[in-house]
Amino acid sequence: MNVLDGRVAVITGGSRGIGLAIARAYRSAGAHVVIAARKPEGLAAARTELLRVEASGDVRTVVANAGEPDQAQRCVDQTMEWFGRLDILVNNAATNPYHGDLLDLDLPRAEKTVRVNQYGMIAWTSCAWKAAMAEHGGAVINIASVGGLIVDPHIGYYNATKAAMMHMTRQLAYELGPKARVNAIAPGLIKTELARAVWEARESVLTAKLPLRRLGTPEDVANAALFLASDASSWITGQTLVIDGGATVLPIGVEE
Ligand SMILES: NC(=O)c1ccc[n+]([C@@H]2O[C@H](COP(=O)([O-])OP(=O)(O)OC[C@H]3O[C@@H](n4cnc5c(N)ncnc54)[C@H](OP(=O)(O)O)[C@@H]3O)[C@@H](O)[C@H]2O)c1
Repeated sequence: MNVLDGRVAVITGGSRGIGLAIARAYRSAGAHVVIAARKPEGLAAARTELLRVEASGDVRTVVANAGEPDQAQRCVDQTMEWFGRLDILVNNAATNPYHGDLLDLDLPRAEKTVRVNQYGMIAWTSCAWKAAMAEHGGAVINIASVGGLIVDPHIGYYNATKAAMMHMTRQLAYELGPKARVNAIAPGLIKTELARAVWEARESVLTAKLPLRRLGTPEDVANAALFLASDASSWITGQTLVIDGGATVLPIGVEE
């Protein structure tokens, strides 16, 4: 079913992993997609892959860093020039430059994490809002993480920015309603490049304790992103949908 027929979606970090799967799902549902990322070669390969999907929508690419507000503006301007509308924004790109205790975190890496994960979400949403959504409405989907709901020994600061994304999702839902809906997805461990070091050597150990006994795929997240972009979720805003195979419902005391 073409539930996004003719709509236009901008997806940051759309050249691989979860962002690419979302672009594929949206295109299959009839949308035109604009994927943004830093590396042109990754974008070109993703575009070729997306065009293999049998669908009527166009696929465009923009080289843009999610942490640079002027590049967000350029991407949104280009999108409006190409299509004359912008209905869906997926704030999916993130960075994770620091592993370690909070008290050892240096300012440059703290600033980089906030700049991309937190301020990036505000900057891209602001551009989309001013260019199109304030007048015509739309849906914003923020890719957070279950890490924003729990404590982790290694990536506490990245997780803090993901917790902030969930809170800003509620705040923006309040500020942008009734025109735009703003929701988040909190994925658990998904088999992508970003998380390869975590899952590759330990997949059977990790899956054994999960209620659904497998790790997530980018398509698991894309299915939720399709729902949150479509009219099927038209009375849902400010929420975070956890997609984690049940990882966060494990009783306390269940060890590896
Ligand atoms: N994988 C997991 O287990 C997992 C779990 C929870 C949440 N998440 C979240 O899901 C989202 C996607 O992660 P993923 O696993 O799909 O990652 P991935 O496979 O590494 O893909 C990341 C994508 O983002 C782009 N990107 C990275 N930094 C960027 C920046 N500063 N500006 C613009 N684009 C940038 C990359 O392309 P370029 O390198 O060319 O820029 C690529 O297209 C992230 O927000 C991540 O925090 C992932």
